[in-house]
Amino acid sequence: MKNLLAKLEEEIAALSFGNNPPNLYDPIRYILSLGGKRLRPMLVLLGYGLKKENLEEAISPALAVEIFHNFTLMHDDIMDEAPIRRGQPTVHEKWNNTVAILSGDTMMVKAYDQLLTGPKESLADAIQKFNKCAVEVCEGQQLDMNFEELETVTEEQYIEMIRLKTAVLLGFSLEYGGLLAGMDKEELTQLNAVGEKAGIGFQLMDDLLDVYGDKAKFGKQVGGDIVSNKKTYLLIKALELANGDQRKELDRWLSASDFDVEEKVEAVKKVYGELGIFELTQTKMNAYYDEAFQLLEELNVRKEGKKALVEFFEKLMKRER
Ligand code: IPE
Ligand code: IPE
Ligand code: MG
Ligand code: MG
Ligand code: MG
Repeated sequence: MKNLLAKLEEEIAALSFGNNPPNLYDPIRYILSLGGKRLRPMLVLLGYGLKKENLEEAISPALAVEIFHNFTLMHDDIMDEAPIRRGQPTVHEKWNNTVAILSGDTMMVKAYDQLLTGPKESLADAIQKFNKCAVEVCEGQQLDMNFEELETVTEEQYIEMIRLKTAVLLGFSLEYGGLLAGMDKEELTQLNAVGEKAGIGFQLMDDLLDVYGDKAKFGKQVGGDIVSNKKTYLLIKALELANGDQRKELDRWLSASDFDVEEKVEAVKKVYGELGIFELTQTKMNAYYDEAFQLLEELNVRKEGKKALVEFFEKLMKRER
């Protein structure tokens, strides 16, 4: 697995995008050079590995999902007004918003170039599935932004929102690997569902780390979701379980327009602590990963491939970034 990741990094570093104007292309190299877990292209390779042995064959098309993902991060950081990504200034902070918008747009197109490196036989299928996924990510992102302004968001609405903004891309990544390896339609549908369930678990963990992560390891601003009133699972549960006083306290911070950032984060965290929100979120995350494991178990594929994917998910469940 380590080798595979090193190979991915090597291929990412070797990508060439263009040079002029520099402030269109430098941010692309910048964000891609900051590292990250490379989890989506890894899922393409692991999906491929469920049928075929030589995973390196899938590396070039697999990079498409990493380029696309980094494009979504560039725009997401504008939307979320995020100062830090992977321990470094975000693109809109280091350059400005127009640069981040245009570099991001360019990356979206470059993702298609990368898809074109895949085999011709499955290209139309791949693009159709990718397009569906990409539009759903936008739907999820818009819902995420809309929810910031809403007073009540149900758990069901939240799960659907994170399914769209995050999980469908994990689903597509795994499925794309399977598609490249020649899996049949039913297997592909099942594989996509594996990725989607794990993807919901993955976003629950991201929301958890946003509150409880160690800034140095997490590489993003801790508490950003609390500051912007993101309707995360944590906040939704807290609003649901709060007693009268706790509810007043939460409402006060949710409606505050002028506040000390640290004070707000600490106050909301205190209520989370009283309500056992950390444990509740972890339980929820585990339940989604369990569903993913169950669905994977039902697939009739290479044993070694399954084992590698299970181990990969297990590591993600314990991640600190
Ligand atoms: C961040 O994705 C955005 C989410 C969907 C939570 P990752 O946590 O995969 O970010 P990197 O690529 O590893 O930095
Ligand atoms: C982002 O969710 C999902 C996408 C980028 C599509 P978040 O806003 O929680 O991701 P981070 O925490 O900024 O990485
Ligand atoms: Mg966001
Ligand atoms: Mg964000
Ligand atoms: Mg987040």
